[in-house]
Amino acid sequence: MSLNKLECARPGVDKLQCFSRECPDLPVADIKKQLGVELVIKLSFNESPYGSSPRVQEALQEAIGALQLYPASYADGLCSAIAEDFRLSTNQVLIGNGADEVINLVVQAFVAPEQEVIVPFPTFGAYGAATHMVGGEVVKIPLAGWILDLEAMKAAITDKTKMIFICNPNNPTSTLLPFNQLAEFLAAIPEHIIVVVDEAYNEYTDNPEESSLIRLINSHANLLVIRTFSKIYGLAALRIGYLLGNEGLIQITQRVRPPFNVNLLGQVAALAAWRDQEHVITAKQQNTLQRELVINSLRKMGLACADSQTNFLLVDIGTDARPLFEFLLEKGIVVRPGFHFGLPQCLRISLGTSEENQLLLSEIETFINNK
Ligand SMILES: Cc1ncc(COP(=O)(O)O)c(C=O)c1O
Repeated sequence: MSLNKLECARPGVDKLQCFSRECPDLPVADIKKQLGVELVIKLSFNESPYGSSPRVQEALQEAIGALQLYPASYADGLCSAIAEDFRLSTNQVLIGNGADEVINLVVQAFVAPEQEVIVPFPTFGAYGAATHMVGGEVVKIPLAGWILDLEAMKAAITDKTKMIFICNPNNPTSTLLPFNQLAEFLAAIPEHIIVVVDEAYNEYTDNPEESSLIRLINSHANLLVIRTFSKIYGLAALRIGYLLGNEGLIQITQRVRPPFNVNLLGQVAALAAWRDQEHVITAKQQNTLQRELVINSLRKMGLACADSQTNFLLVDIGTDARPLFEFLLEKGIVVRPGFHFGLPQCLRISLGTSEENQLLLSEIETFINNK
């Protein structure tokens, strides 16, 4: 067997792709170089245009003197702050190197080769990738329109089902399933199947506490909830995500977590950001205002736009969206084309600052008028 052939990799690796080195996925400096433009507006990663709390800078300054030491393995300070605010015990919280790592850890901890993992389609790609990595089977359930089809997901359960992923609100469609529907769904799932609810965008929803499943954790032993500091907390660069659930599931997941998965600066920054909820409130208010403005403007232009409960929009332009994607790219405005996730008529557009959104809208209008 040749070592440069895929057959020398473990089963499932052949189903994975390397992370793209193409335009929407490059850092801003590289995009500038590639496009030869001065100004780049990056609206392809759902990052926060409002940055992180000023308290993060101060906390990082203090921490930077101790880089020779390993960080706390369990990130205890951060863990306790999160646990306390959600009225959970610290043993019900696991901190990961971004929600990405948390997704990988839960799949590694619970899914055996050939077991099935039910995921909506389209949704965040990491659930499927993590499943392939352990040799599991991904069972994709198409959305009903732009909304998760819970009935179809339930109907897809077999003897081999081990895990179900729910992304709420869903990336890339931006829509939110109401708490009651999810609670009913959860009640109908056998307890040996683990339900993982990814709430990466929860803080942007109109009623974050009401729409979250966190309050069901103590009554549902098979429920895990994932959150991140990469979105509203503006800390994507430092890679902090977390997992909440009953102690049993969390302690099993701890077994597969590398001992120093979360670096010191990430831990310190996340704790400072957590303690500045004013910053979160302001970012949310700005996002909600911009979301309404941009959705209304797009709809006035005749474009269909999902009812977003996130910091990004799914826009259906009614025809192949690639020409609009490329037109915006030439202007330095980078959005996510829908053909990346099976919706070729759509673009997923992160909300930027007011100025960025105005530029975006005026370029879309120009494109439409010149068609
Ligand atoms: C739904 C969802 N989950 C998880 C993540 C990953 O977040 P993190 O940056 O914490 O790894 C993202 C990032 O875009 C996401 O959209």
